[in-house]
Amino acid sequence: MSAYALKVALLTLMGDTFKDDKEVLEFRRLYDIAWFETEKQLTDVPEPDSQRMKTFKDAKDKLYKIIKRTLEHRKKNPAKKGELLLIDILIENCQDEETLLADTFTFVIGGFHTTGNLLTWCFYFLATHQDIQDKVQKEIKSVLGSDDVDHTNINDLVYLRQVIDETLRCAVIAPWGARFQDFDSELGGHKIPKNTPVIHALGVTQQDEAIWPVPNRFDPDRFSEENSKKRQSLAFQPFGFAGKRICPGYRFAYAEATVCFVTLLRKFKFNMVEGQVITPVHGLVTHPSEEVWITIDKR
Ligand code: HEM
Repeated sequence: MSAYALKVALLTLMGDTFKDDKEVLEFRRLYDIAWFETEKQLTDVPEPDSQRMKTFKDAKDKLYKIIKRTLEHRKKNPAKKGELLLIDILIENCQDEETLLADTFTFVIGGFHTTGNLLTWCFYFLATHQDIQDKVQKEIKSVLGSDDVDHTNINDLVYLRQVIDETLRCAVIAPWGARFQDFDSELGGHKIPKNTPVIHALGVTQQDEAIWPVPNRFDPDRFSEENSKKRQSLAFQPFGFAGKRICPGYRFAYAEATVCFVTLLRKFKFNMVEGQVITPVHGLVTHPSEEVWITIDKR
């Protein structure tokens, strides 16, 4: 799922430089090295001249080189009118080369790691809840018939959206965000001066028993229209609390996940390989402790 999400992000956001799977896999290999080290540094910071830091820096520099090459290729081969991708918008609007490189990199990273894990967890929940999987499949059949999913009908797949939302909540895909406070404010009687670093504990609200009874139970009905009305809106903010700095890719993530599930659930049934114990590992993004093994039957 992670490789699929990376390919989707690279092709749809960055263009045809990534048509060759070898490029995608090399990007993924370097990314894994850099990400593993970044998460490790949350609890264990290495010496600046250690081998760990050298390996990290080497992977990061190579990733930047790939992005730089992609940007140069796109500038020399601009998009046709009406076929603009995110990379073209960034090229047009970033004020200097450094910002362009950093922003492009941020979008690629933001665009695939979270979504890859969302898809993995969603398949896990569907395979462990066959009744829910059947309900999604029936909805796809009755809403779409044999039509493709697109922007005109995506919002009609109401139950599938509930399943995606419950996956974001139950697996706590993005457990926290971190921001410098933009202005002086007060919260629960505590003064928070401007520029204070604040951790937004998104996962804590998503698992709060007072809001979500039996929070570990996977239950998409929590997101039915009726049940959602009973909660205040900040109870579920899986893409951040940060107002205008909320995740800019959230609609893309919903669209990508929906296309993936419509395409696959139409044709196949997903079952867990028995005997697996899957536990969540919370880091910058929550991933399963082990690979999730699933078997596939034709419908
Ligand atoms: C399941 C999918 C995703 C989840 C759970 C997720 C979650 C988040 C969260 C929690 C933040 C931090 C917001 C804050 O600062 O409070 C964020 C930021 C960001 N996300 Fe996502 N995201 C997802 C998919 C995507 C996709 C598909 C893209 C790009 C196409 C993307 C691009 C970004 C970027 C660029 C930022 C930084 C925004 C800024 O600092 O202004 N994300 N995301």
